[in-house]
Amino acid sequence: MQTSKVFIASAAEHLSNKLIEELNISSKKINSKNEFKLGKHSIQRYSDGEIDIEIEIDDTISSNPIILIQSLSFPINDNLMELLLFIDALKSAEAKNIILLIPYIAYARGDKLKKNKSCAAKVLGNLLNHEEIKKIITIDIHSQESLNLIKKPIINLLPCKEFANHISRQNYSNPIIGSPDEGGIERGKRLAEELKLPFAYLEKTRDSSNIASITKIHGNVKNKTCIIYDDIVDTAGTLIKAAEYIKENGASKIIACCTHPVLSNNAEQKIEHSCIEQLITTDTIKPNNKQTSKIITISNIDNIVKELLSN
Ligand code: R5P
Repeated sequence: MQTSKVFIASAAEHLSNKLIEELNISSKKINSKNEFKLGKHSIQRYSDGEIDIEIEIDDTISSNPIILIQSLSFPINDNLMELLLFIDALKSAEAKNIILLIPYIAYARGDKLKKNKSCAAKVLGNLLNHEEIKKIITIDIHSQESLNLIKKPIINLLPCKEFANHISRQNYSNPIIGSPDEGGIERGKRLAEELKLPFAYLEKTRDSSNIASITKIHGNVKNKTCIIYDDIVDTAGTLIKAAEYIKENGASKIIACCTHPVLSNNAEQKIEHSCIEQLITTDTIKPNNKQTSKIITISNIDNIVKELLSN
């Protein structure tokens, strides 16, 4: 029997018990010789915000696989620093085979390499480039460009099946999948294919002051329930603009799906007062206490368990 130790950092605590339980149940079902145990650690926080991480002494760490889970949700920089210090503590404990599970990779929107400008996804890729990290698993990373800037083997799980299972149980009248911009076409098409539904997308342009506005819709949303799919809802500006445009083009009802409910500032309130009837999100980010009844969360755990047991 091989024991994989699972270390859960602060921003992934909401996944902890369920994930370990499901890993062990599914592992037994397939007669795998792998068992999963929660690794012990302590985090010390100083009054100026600095942190220290200590891994409990354990002889199995150097010889067994280690799974380290951290989401890069708000406060992003603190959670990123915690991840980096965690990796360092594991390396000091002589871990040699680390799998990182980062359900939400922040900074992936900074994916353009331009002269005289920082490229956050590249910097993040460099920070995670340790020999001991054998693989990174994430969910719905922002773009292919950001994926390419991470130098480790990376598995990008899409929650299309999870969204599709939920959507197919809702009996929406005349449904169509929509993407709020051209960047989301591939993602949207995957969901549309999964559900065997038609697809529409919006075209955006930016004016001289770099303000984005929607200029065109491709596809027919008239009298349909349009399910807009985006990777991130941050300020909710993109989603609400898209929803209003689609409604003006004749859609009868607007539903939204987003993998990562970043929901900064008062995004929940904006969604509450918008024409979006429901926002379906996933558990890549710990839910905050501002969530309203319009927002529901579905789980990525089955998807993650399948990937972790596939080796
Ligand atoms: C942009 O390319 C992303 O896919 C999202 O559409 C965007 O990050 C959402 O941000 P916000 O909610 O602030 O408009």
